Amino acid sequence: MAQLIDGKQISAAIKDELKTEVASYKEQGISICLAVIQVGNDPASSVYVGNKKKACAYIGIESKAYELPEETTEAELLSLIDSLNQDDSINGILVQLPLPKHMDEYKITQAISPKKDVDGFHEQNVGALQVGSQGFVSCTPAGVIQLLKRSGIDICGKECVVVGRSNIVGKPMAALLLRENGTVTICHSRTRNLAEVCRRADILVAAIGKPKFFDASYVKEGAVVIDVGIHRLPPAVEGGKSKLCGDVDFDSVAPHCSAITPVPGGVGPMTIAMLMDNCVATVRK
Ligand code: GUN
Repeated sequence: MAQLIDGKQISAAIKDELKTEVASYKEQGISICLAVIQVGNDPASSVYVGNKKKACAYIGIESKAYELPEETTEAELLSLIDSLNQDDSINGILVQLPLPKHMDEYKITQAISPKKDVDGFHEQNVGALQVGSQGFVSCTPAGVIQLLKRSGIDICGKECVVVGRSNIVGKPMAALLLRENGTVTICHSRTRNLAEVCRRADILVAAIGKPKFFDASYVKEGAVVIDVGIHRLPPAVEGGKSKLCGDVDFDSVAPHCSAITPVPGGVGPMTIAMLMDNCVATVRK
């Protein structure tokens, strides 16, 4: 049976390490503060923002919440970001996505100072990752690398197949695996013979955004499978509980893997742990 990669346990270990590190900074009179901006009240975003604030409190990072009404103009949001960019008491700035339709997400994410861009979305940080210089890395793919490393899975020389080419997950994931000396293939909706390409993978990263898309026919015997997807399935019976699943059909794939991440409890908890790591990195020497 496959090794279950426990994202809950690994993220908890990272948060505990960060808590110790933050306490030592506090003794030196150094504090860390994250500004968290939410526009409107999308329920899923409220849950994510709440979890980020909770993680900050646990680690000893101050968080300042800016809950703005749906009707906030782009100019008003840009003005808030500008003032936070200039405020020396703010180490990191996070604007929760998605934003309301009348706002240009690209313009907003690029307005955050690259030095405070703890999401790693600014072009300067995206470029830094490509050329291998210091910068903030997008949290979910950074979390995948930690899951692999802390589970004793070597990336060097391995065939890594990433399915998905988003700016937040697929592209930075490929760059990180390459940085770890993996042999990397990026697949997407136009890839021909997708299952055949996936079957080459020693490490398969599923980030296609379709529930239970990958069954056993996509997976080589003994591969490591990392499931980045998260979907809420409707209840099997009316009034029943809805269930979470990933991009991978776990029951079909797990018997063929050497290791696999579950959903929930795999990649999900790592995103916040790596966000916290990026916040702490703002004061690391
Ligand atoms: N919405 C969904 N995931 C994320 C994330 O990682 N960062 C931000 N800012 N918004 C998101």
